[in-house]
Order: sequence, then C-alpha cells, then structure tokens
Amino acid sequence: MSEAYVHGYHPRENERLQDQAGTLVDLLHCDTSYPPGSVVLEAGCGVGAQTVTLAARSPGARFTSIDVSAVSLAQAERATRSAGLTNVQFQQADIFALPFAPESFDHVFVCFVLEHLSRPVEALTILKGLLRPTGTITFIEGDHGSTYFHPDSSAAHKAIQCLVDLQRLAGGNSLIGRQLYPIMVEAGLEAVRVSPRMVYVDSSKPALVDGFTRKTFTAMIEGVRESAIDAGMATPEAFDAGIRDLYRTAEADGVFCYTFFKGVGEKNGRG
Ligand SMILES: C[S@@+](CC[C@H](N)C(=O)[O-])C[C@H]1O[C@@H](n2cnc3c(N)ncnc32)[C@H](O)[C@@H]1O
Repeated sequence: MSEAYVHGYHPRENERLQDQAGTLVDLLHCDTSYPPGSVVLEAGCGVGAQTVTLAARSPGARFTSIDVSAVSLAQAERATRSAGLTNVQFQQADIFALPFAPESFDHVFVCFVLEHLSRPVEALTILKGLLRPTGTITFIEGDHGSTYFHPDSSAAHKAIQCLVDLQRLAGGNSLIGRQLYPIMVEAGLEAVRVSPRMVYVDSSKPALVDGFTRKTFTAMIEGVRESAIDAGMATPEAFDAGIRDLYRTAEADGVFCYTFFKGVGEKNGRG
C-alpha cells in the first residue's frame, strides 16, 4: 500500500486529512473537551488536523501531541502556531515505545490511528498505562464497510474493497470502527461507550459534498489507485470506473453515507 495513505505523509493526503477534519468538527468533537489544568496526550497527531480543534476547544488543558513522523509533527506545529494556540507541545515518539512515566496523563485522545496498527489492543494497553486512575481515553475510527451511496455501483464498492484489502495486507484494518467496543474491552478499559457518527451527504449540503464525499472519501480511495493496480486487485479501467461512480454520488441527485465510531473508556471506571 502506498506510504501516502498509510501514514499521512504525502502532501495530497495531508490536505485530505485537513479537509476531513474541517468538515467533521461538530460531528466528531462536539462532546470532547477537557477541564482546565488537565494534561492530555494526543497519540498519532499527524499533521495536527484534530490537534487544532482539541486545543481550541479546551484552552485551559495542556496537550502533548506525539507522532512517529517528524515531517508531520513540523506541519502540526505550524498549524497550531498559525491558529494562535499555545497549549500544545509536540514530541516525536512511537506509541509502542513512549518516553512517558506511567500515570502521566489525565486523558488520552487517539483519532484515525488504530486502523493503521497491526497490534491495536497492545497500543490501547500501553496508552491505558499512561492514564491516571480517574483518566479517560477517547478513540475515533472510521469503517469503510459502512459506506453506501446513491446511485449504487458495484464498480465503486470494488474500488473501496481495494483499499480495505491493501490496508489488511499492510497490517492494518479499515473496518476497525465496528470493533472499537470489543478492542477497548479487551484492553481492560472500563465503562466503555461507543457511539456511531454517521455522515449523511446530499446536494443540500454543498460543504459536505465537496469536503467529505469528494475531498475526503473519494480522494482517499483514489489515492490507492497505483497500489491497487500494481497488486493486481483491479484493472486501471475497472478502478477508474469505480472512482467515476464515487464522484457521481456528489452530483445533484447523489447521496453518500459513511459512519465513524467514537469510543470513550475509563481506566478504572471511576472517571
Ligand atoms: C491517518 S493519520 C491520522 C492523524 C491525525 N490523528 C488525524 O486524525 O488527522 C495516522 C497517524 O498515525 C501515526 N502513527 C502510525 N503509527 C504510529 C505509531 N506507532 N506511533 C505514533 N504514531 C503513529 C502516523 O504517523 C500518522 O500521522
């Protein structure tokens, strides 16, 4: 699978993550804010697409945002600086080898990262260990199997399946949204609650048509074109037909639906 999609390094992928974050702020973040004085770890912050919203919504909290990619971190730092935010510090680190003492954080926030990890339960267990006894942990993940649209198209479903298969071959899981609850419970989190966040798009919502259907979802599938063809998963003609049909759902009579999953758990069930 292309590095571009797997880790969000490519300029177009970075733009896509920013488009996605801007379009979905209310849907994904309306119920996330941290009290003044709390210390929050954002794991896998990427280019800071969520960091800016998190830090702006909780101005009295202090965030440490980490990522394995120094290039993405530099971009995240620029994004928070230009938003005038001063409550975030960035650090290059791997979730599986974090340089923090146990119980260093009041809260942990993780968005669109678990889908890329081959050992998500281990990652959750590590992050849980960093929480203070009353701490909470929040995950947001997508699930590409939750996609349906009008006009329906088997070519479009096949193009989406290419991404699902490529991500599985790379050790990830783009159907992880539906598994958030069992994964969080397996990692020993308490009081776990998962809520589906459905994006429904028709042409009465032009910002979502452009920001989500075109620039977020279809752009993401389009981004694996070469990898899917190289892997023999689709012919160029078949893949391009699928992409054409996805763009077709952004026309005046088109409809596009996708569901994200947001899970919140507590370390000791006393949060
Ligand atoms: C799809 S991006 C999501 C970025 C951001 N959370 C967002 O919602 O826009 C996934 C991020 O996870 C990071 N990542 C992947 N594996 C990681 C690991 N083991 N430790 C830390 N970061 C990791 C990648 O570098 C990338 O920036």
